[in-house]
Amino acid sequence: MTVVAIDGPSGAGKSTLARALATRLGLRHVDTGAYYRAAALAVLRAGVDPADATTTAKVVRGAGIARSGGRTRLDGADVEDDIRGPEVTAVVSDVAAIPEVRAHLVHLQRDEVGDDPAGAVVEGRDAGTVVVPDADLKVWLTASPAERALRRAAERGGDVAAEADALVRRDRRDAHAMARADGVVEVDGTDATVEQLVERLVTLLRDRVTALAEGRG
Ligand code: DC
Repeated sequence: MTVVAIDGPSGAGKSTLARALATRLGLRHVDTGAYYRAAALAVLRAGVDPADATTTAKVVRGAGIARSGGRTRLDGADVEDDIRGPEVTAVVSDVAAIPEVRAHLVHLQRDEVGDDPAGAVVEGRDAGTVVVPDADLKVWLTASPAERALRRAAERGGDVAAEADALVRRDRRDAHAMARADGVVEVDGTDATVEQLVERLVTLLRDRVTALAEGRG
């Protein structure tokens, strides 16, 4: 089983890279952020204020959140498009800050990793520290603030300055989940193409696996 963890801030390009690497290696792509987004959608639909941590955690534990084939389901319905919308993005950090919510979703994420005997590329904020701390390779993907804001604006057709402000706020709210794992390799994706980054990670992974086999890991 091969497991790669890719963590980093919003807009660093984690999803694109994780998907491309998973395809290249024939592994499952586990998007942990999608679980937090589905949880936030369940909380919005229940009309609960995320400031009420106890009720929020109860709603999330009772929600049927599942991922397969790159799609997210909530209580059996496909919500992949809904979880990417601005309503969910506005509240997801608050929902993700609740420890009981995190504990429940980490279980579901680990189950998804375990579903593929070949392994997985796990993407998020705490993949290398919490979800798969025994990953063969742990990467912290960064990009310059300007590049991150440009990417977000291009994705959403929004304004770059507004995206830059929003990213600063999200970094602050997501900081609790963003510790660097032991042995993590920092990769700056600012000026690299996805193909170059995939090659870089494939080489890093090969070196790690060889080092482990030779007892140097
Ligand atoms: O990566 P994303 O934008 O889809 O993440 C959505 C939110 O969930 C974001 O506010 C950070 C949070 N998140 C988290 O706290 N832990 C993770 N492992 C993944 C995402």
